[in-house]
Parts: sequence; structure tokens; C-alpha cells
Amino acid sequence: MLLGVNIDHVATLRNARGEEEPSVYDAAKICVKVGANGITTHLREDRRHIKDADVYALKKDLKCRLNLEMAATDEMQKIALDLLPHACCIVPEKRQEVTTEGGLDVFSQQKRMIEFVKPLVNAGIEVSLFIDAEEKQVEASYKTGAQFIELHTGSYSQAFGTDKEEIEFQKLKNATIFAQKLGLNVNAGHGLNYINVHRMHEIPNLHELNIGHSIISRAIFTGLECAVKDMMNLVYKN
Ligand code: PXP
Repeated sequence: MLLGVNIDHVATLRNARGEEEPSVYDAAKICVKVGANGITTHLREDRRHIKDADVYALKKDLKCRLNLEMAATDEMQKIALDLLPHACCIVPEKRQEVTTEGGLDVFSQQKRMIEFVKPLVNAGIEVSLFIDAEEKQVEASYKTGAQFIELHTGSYSQAFGTDKEEIEFQKLKNATIFAQKLGLNVNAGHGLNYINVHRMHEIPNLHELNIGHSIISRAIFTGLECAVKDMMNLVYKN
């Protein structure tokens, strides 16, 4: 399993002062230096954390995979086609939300999503749709031509350690197996941390985990290098 480190919250902290520290670019360099497979950033419509200049600087100089999370808007499609990141993860976006809430409803906007995904795939970008672990969303994602889905692990993470954990875990596992039968590659992320991530190894052939908040939170106490290494030890263990 691969690890993509989401560094949005480094930008959140930087933007709190509106100045240059801490540097998103330097944070990404540390993640890559210690062995993370990729860097994930969410360029939100309101630019509340990652800014356009960040993604261009990361794409230009960093020798690693850049995964650009973005909403399915014309503006973002234009940026992606200009930037050409290695991967794009299409997420739902609401202005008032604190973080991405729920997966993308690909099923209800099948035609729009097919049109949105096609130019990105044709440009050589790996496209992933961030969806809930439901068969109808997996099937609809497959029909868009995207090569990947990313399963939303938020419900599993919240249920972890409660009597709902197993139900949420099985949903992820079943959706993964179903997606893989269709030929999709499967990533996962949201709310994963040092305590709950280990069960991702029970899901066959997950490709990549995208993890942000827990790593950046730990980094405040241990330093980023150590926080990334600790997560790598859990993610790469098999
Ligand atoms: N994957 C996607 C698609 C996301 O939107 C997010 C949150 O930005 C993450 C992964 C990482 O979630 P967390 O910060 O909770 O680890």
C-alpha cells in the first residue's frame, strides 16, 4: 500500500498569519525525503488553505507524485489541464464545510461526470472519484472512465472502536472487491489515523491511502519527519 500525505493543514497554519511560515513546499520536501509516495493537496474553490502558487511550485520542483484534489468545476478542470498533476481526485465541495463531507454523488450526475473526467484522462492524468462505499456509486464511477476511486473512510474512522465499526469496515471491503472486479484501482482516505489505519491491510489490494490531519497533528509534537515515518511504518508494513 502506498501513502500520500495530505499537507493542506500546513497551509491552513500558514494562512492564519497570511505570511510564508510554515512553508508548504518545505513540508512536502520532508515527506518525500522520508519516503512518502506522494503529496496530496486540495485546491478549494475558496482557496482557504492551498493556493494556486503552491500546486504549481510542488509540480515544478518536487520529485514525487502530486495528487490534486478538486471539485468538478470548469475552473478546476482548466487548472488541472494546465498543471498536469500525476493524479486528480474529484471531491464534492461545499463552501461552509470544515472538511470534505461525504462522497461525490457520481450516480446522480453520471453524464456530467463522464464529460468532466474525459479530458483529464485524455491528458494522461490518473483520475480518481472520491465516493462513499456504495455499489451504485462504484458502478457509476466505473462508467465515467476514471481509472481510480477513493473510498471515503470517514464513517469507518468515526465508527472505529464502537459496535458500528464492523459494518462500516465491511462496506469498505465489499466496495473495494466490487470495484476491483470492474477493473478499478482503489484508494482510500479521510479520518484515518495511527490507531484505526491498521484495518486497511485487511482489505485486499488497496492501492494508496491519503492521510492528512492525523499526520500533521502528530507533527506538532514529534516533528513532521517522525510523524510521516510513524505512519509509513503502519501503512507499508505488509
Ligand atoms: N482524501 C480526500 C479525498 C480528502 O478530501 C481528504 C481530506 O482533505 C483526505 C483524503 C485526508 O483526510 P484526513 O485529513 O482526515 O486524513
